[in-house]
Amino acid sequence: MRLASVRVRAERCPRCRGLDSLREKMVFAAGSPNARIMFIGEAPGAEEERRGEPFVGPAGALLDKIINAMGLQRSDVYISNIVKYRPRIDDGSRQGESNRKPTPEEMSASIDYVLEEIEIVDPDVIVALGGTAMEGLLGLQGSVSSQRGRLQEFRGRSVLITYHPSYLLRNPAPSEKRKVWEDMKLVLAHLGMPVPQK
Ligand code: URA
Repeated sequence: MRLASVRVRAERCPRCRGLDSLREKMVFAAGSPNARIMFIGEAPGAEEERRGEPFVGPAGALLDKIINAMGLQRSDVYISNIVKYRPRIDDGSRQGESNRKPTPEEMSASIDYVLEEIEIVDPDVIVALGGTAMEGLLGLQGSVSSQRGRLQEFRGRSVLITYHPSYLLRNPAPSEKRKVWEDMKLVLAHLGMPVPQK
């Protein structure tokens, strides 16, 4: 009920519309409103926009693998994005599959909805995926590598910053995947959940 109300307001989002730099279709969130883990990404891409669901393209397939490796299903967690609309490139007519990172103005226009989602879902841990989520949610600049590897506190909640699945797709070295897995093990330990053996 309460998430539905946020969804309705995010769909109107006067500040997002006022920027005139985001595409029309909203991609809100997916997963369980009772989840203990909330993943927050950047913004929807082409496939997410088509299907109206976050993380359903190539990065989403990798996120699903990570969630499964944790012994969980996608439906066990809550998945959202800092920005709920796909950032437009030029006038959008020739955008195709291209995406761009949201601007600070675009992030600030939709952050209040994300904060409301956090309050409603009330997760035990938030996983910020990548630099955009780190900046948009926590206001932290700099590299993900300097912030990952430990749980941090944000508004009285536990947050873990880790690499975005797209980063792993661009950098498929086992060493980078291992770092994300180490981060996910911290999340599981924090929740008192068993670490599945690979
Ligand atoms: N990348 C994101 O950050 N979010 C999505 O929903 C898809 C790709």
